[in-house]
Amino acid sequence: MSLSDLDLAALVRPDSVHKRVYTDPEIFALEMERIYGQAWIYVGHESQVPQVGDYCTARIGDQHVILVRDTDGGVHVLYNRCAHKGAKLVAADEGNVGKSFRCPYHAWTYRLDGSHLGAPLKNGFAGTCFDPADPAFSLRPLARVSAYRGFVFASQAADGPDLATFLGGAVTSLDNFCDRSPLGKVEVAGGVFRVLQRSNWKVFYENLHDTMHARVTHESSVAAAREEAKALGGMPFELHIMDGNGEPYEFWEKLELRAYDNGHGYMEGIFNPGAAERDPLARAHFATLEAAYGAERAREILGMNRHNTILYGSGSPHTVFQQFRVIRPLAVDRTLVEIQVFRLKGAPEGVFRRALLYANIINSPGSNVMPDDVEVYARCQEGNGTDGGDWISLHRYLGTDREVPGGMVSTNGTSELPMRNQFKAWRRYMAGEAAAGRGLHVA
Ligand code: FES
Ligand SMILES: [Fe+2]
Repeated sequence: MSLSDLDLAALVRPDSVHKRVYTDPEIFALEMERIYGQAWIYVGHESQVPQVGDYCTARIGDQHVILVRDTDGGVHVLYNRCAHKGAKLVAADEGNVGKSFRCPYHAWTYRLDGSHLGAPLKNGFAGTCFDPADPAFSLRPLARVSAYRGFVFASQAADGPDLATFLGGAVTSLDNFCDRSPLGKVEVAGGVFRVLQRSNWKVFYENLHDTMHARVTHESSVAAAREEAKALGGMPFELHIMDGNGEPYEFWEKLELRAYDNGHGYMEGIFNPGAAERDPLARAHFATLEAAYGAERAREILGMNRHNTILYGSGSPHTVFQQFRVIRPLAVDRTLVEIQVFRLKGAPEGVFRRALLYANIINSPGSNVMPDDVEVYARCQEGNGTDGGDWISLHRYLGTDREVPGGMVSTNGTSELPMRNQFKAWRRYMAGEAAAGRGLHVA
């Protein structure tokens, strides 16, 4: 059965959403066109390609793309497709191609901006309309590429808001992410954790601000942290961050959730070690920022305490612990999460080591915490595959969220505002109010 725009709009109500949005392959295919074909999507960080010819590969929805550093210092995002017979040009996650790309099939070559450089035995093209200057014989660039403080995004749509406008109030999280460096710069370091989730991509975005799940889903890891702390006679950082999920409901109710257009938002922080004056590492970090920006600004930077930020379609940067969980949908029931950890340039090395520790303890495939989440996501996928019911409830604190300049704020931290906000954007993308991507027209 083919879905009309009316059908799509009917799947999202103000207080609930139909389970088909998580389980229907046809809807997933449409999401690749109407959301990933339009939105600004995070490709990678400029620090991943520091030298001329450095590249890394990524996915924008179902599209394979290459981020590459050119000779003039700029970066490009190109579709990973040779213009001859369409071979995927580079297959590795990252590498260096030197001064040009060379296709592994028949050796067509391309400059780092994707333009056609050459093909063997040129005489063979004599008398044909083959024209190296014709873009059809070059690598196709993404319609728009834009970087915000080193975070490179691309859009497959030629038209639409610029990147900063698209990100709205959530862009302040990228600012704070970088401002925590005394040089205002960050770099990807320490490798990438990869987690393959057996669930739809939207489930993860919803869970990022789902404060009601923490003390329930993570009951066992909280109990383990508390037992271990008892045995040790104290709670070191590693256990403290695991224990945080066990806070009582009253704690979560007091947190603030922000929601912005296009599904973005952020959640107020749980821990803020950088602002803890008793902590020697926090003091050392503060000193580097104070020297760079002055004490008042340094306090402001480290005092900004955010937990997960949502850049809908791209993933979730975490400003306090310098990681970016990049979310790549693979299929209606498969999602790849790639966790990048960043070093704050010029900050004490201990801050980076703490970020690594956080990623290891909380989010890595080997952590005690993240598998709790992945298990419930898979259960949602499996449960929604049954005939046991059709709708997902998003009723909590509906109608109580307040408007603030540029967005909405929860009056209670357990509000399902973030999920309602994501589906408001989803409905707009999918049911016709934002239709310019990849030449797709939605009436
Ligand atoms: S497919 Fe790339 S050169 Fe032939
Ligand atoms: Fe969780």
